[in-house]
Amino acid sequence: MARQPKTEMSALPFLPKKRVTLATLADAARACRGCPLYARATQTVFGAGPASARVILVGEQPGNDEDLRGAPFVGPAGRVLDKALAAAHIDRRETYVTNVVKHFNWVATTGSRRLHKKPSSREVSACLPWLEEEIVLIKPDVVVLLGATAAQAILGRDFRVTKDRGKLLATRFGARALATVHPSSILRQRTHEDRARETERFVADLAVVAKLIHRRAA
Ligand code: URA
Repeated sequence: MARQPKTEMSALPFLPKKRVTLATLADAARACRGCPLYARATQTVFGAGPASARVILVGEQPGNDEDLRGAPFVGPAGRVLDKALAAAHIDRRETYVTNVVKHFNWVATTGSRRLHKKPSSREVSACLPWLEEEIVLIKPDVVVLLGATAAQAILGRDFRVTKDRGKLLATRFGARALATVHPSSILRQRTHEDRARETERFVADLAVVAKLIHRRAA
């Protein structure tokens, strides 16, 4: 049965109708006008990584660097993520990295700086079909939800990362989900000690994922 958009704004009419692969999906997403965010973004930032990935990592939305380069998690938060993945013995090149929202949402500040603006729940719902299709196509063992926006998009509005981070949970996709903090929350920590402690907790959450995928691969 054809899916119907749940909101008046939706990416659904822009999804390819047949022969859906990650490549055709990414191509179609470049033309998405399912919500107003495309208008102010430089480009669509679709997911990146192999279709054979056992792990999908999901952030909130591209930031300034990602918007300019057209790839997810390539800025400061991406560097925190890279280090934590390496510490948890997960090879980023074997993961698929994406975001719930595929366009950069920003507000102007002084000068030419563009400040990240959290996407609204309507924008998240409108963009969600892209992520759902990425998960359906890849069929990963685990979807890692980085921060509250990603966690609530997949696990429901009542989900609290602070309460249930680091746990392997069931999803409607068959894949398990594990929610943890967004790497940018580590960048926002005030002191070196706080950053070190939060990095350690982030790596511990990712290590749960590493254990699962390495056990399955053995
Ligand atoms: N923050 C995100 O949530 N995603 C990115 O790709 C970059 C920063």
